[in-house]
Amino acid sequence: MFTKNELQAAEALKSIARNQEVKRYVQESKELYPLLLKAAKRFVTGEIQEDGISKAQELISKGYSVSLEYIGENTTSVEECLQAKYEFNNLMEKMGSITVQATISFDLSHIGLNVSSKLALENLTEMAQTALSYDLTLMISMEESAKTDDILDIYKKVAIQYSNVGITIQTHLNRSMNDIEDLLNYPGKIRIVKGAYQEPSDIAIVRSKELNERYLNLIAACIQKRHPVSIATHDEEIIKEILKQQYLSLPNVEVEMLYGVRPDLMKQLNGSGHKTRVYLTYGHEWYLYLCHRLAEYPPNIYQALVDMIRRTTGDSDMY
Ligand code: FDA
Repeated sequence: MFTKNELQAAEALKSIARNQEVKRYVQESKELYPLLLKAAKRFVTGEIQEDGISKAQELISKGYSVSLEYIGENTTSVEECLQAKYEFNNLMEKMGSITVQATISFDLSHIGLNVSSKLALENLTEMAQTALSYDLTLMISMEESAKTDDILDIYKKVAIQYSNVGITIQTHLNRSMNDIEDLLNYPGKIRIVKGAYQEPSDIAIVRSKELNERYLNLIAACIQKRHPVSIATHDEEIIKEILKQQYLSLPNVEVEMLYGVRPDLMKQLNGSGHKTRVYLTYGHEWYLYLCHRLAEYPPNIYQALVDMIRRTTGDSDMY
């Protein structure tokens, strides 16, 4: 699908994304930081909470639902985990006070999982309580397979008490159908994604027709049980199939895409009256997020170059 050069560029970007020295260099560079930030603004609403909230309000006024994430992952000190929890709670209080309805999305490793499961559970429970008091929902992202069991355990402990907490499942993992069958016993929404992490071939499959078939089977399992489900993909073939099956006319089903990725398709679905949710992010950790978006679809590199030269802010007309 992509040229050899594009795939090599994607690999280079993935290793740049992981390189802490390059990251520090970019963050401290007076020239590179603002330039790359211009490219990031296609995918990230901005660096501060107000950027996320005002984009959420704008998209809600156009008929979309939104998810909102304060970007971060793999936080290693207790202090940083508490700071992240504070930011999420503060975000929910702010949104509650101006009645902005959104799902707050996050990695458990941002709020404590890399320190201890206990800390992640405590912080998640507190956030679930805050969300409940403002009539908001939470959605836990899924991280690399080494963390899957811990993430599911923590989710289940909180989900029995808080039905406003949902969980993400990665289709590429061979275990996912079993996980979904188990998760259907809990009330929270299930968000189904293909999977963003590179995993060994004995536990996961790569992008393929088989993966798409598996994706549709996972959705069907949720739909059969009338379980709340978010179909989180930009894959036009999958979208065509769910439209054909009329899944989007069911009250418990929505389609969700990352901000800046296929806004044309989202606009079309929203315009046709389908339930659409846009996944928004904000925060200073936009660098890694930008690298991921460019690496997963290398033609975005050309767009990033154009954005760096021409644009001062994100494209406000995308949606
Ligand atoms: P696929 O990667 O096969 O792409 C299909 C088509 O979509 C491409 O051919 C292209 O046309 C378009 N496309 C995809 N990415 C694009 C991009 N960056 N720019 C432009 N076009 C693009 N993963 C994870 O492991 N854990 C998680 O918690 C989450 N959470 C999450 C939430 C939401 C709302 C979404 C939409 C995605 C995630 N993901 C995720 C990421 C997910 O696993 C996956 O990596 C991406 O969604 C890309 O996969 P697609 O389903 O789009 O298919």
